[in-house]
Amino acid sequence: MPYSTRVISLDGVVVSGLGQGAYFMSLPWVRDAVHRLIGFAPYPGTLNLRLDSRTVSVWRHAKDGPALVLAPPPTEACGARLFPALIGADVDTAVIVPDVTGYGDDRLEVVAAVHLRSVLHLRDEDRVSLQIRASGG
Ligand code: CDP
Repeated sequence: MPYSTRVISLDGVVVSGLGQGAYFMSLPWVRDAVHRLIGFAPYPGTLNLRLDSRTVSVWRHAKDGPALVLAPPPTEACGARLFPALIGADVDTAVIVPDVTGYGDDRLEVVAAVHLRSVLHLRDEDRVSLQIRASGG
């Protein structure tokens, strides 16, 4: 079977989270791992999206697929999986899925080098469309 890549669009709205993203993204080993795996130093926080109901099932399927893995060092309990993504044509981001999370499948946590609310002028309930590349046939 030829190896192919397809793009998955996920649509949702900006919501405020519980501040957990800022904690996780401030951990030095997480920052180092994200930098190494996707090539940017992440802003210390996550932009939370609440997915449209149509998109939730698409994401539920995609999130079990291939991902970049943040393996925690021995002293840490919670690793994560990363899905490189784009917002619009040129804003590099990644969806981060911590191994332990208080959120359901309808929530996405997005990391980027930049503060996305500032760069994209986003406020709560604004719509965001994000493209992840999923490997598979
Ligand atoms: O408090 P909350 O869990 O929503 O967010 P946070 O992880 O503590 O991040 C602080 C703020 O920066 C929130 O308003 C996020 O939406 C925002 N943010 C952003 O605009 N771009 C990022 N790359 C990361 C966070």
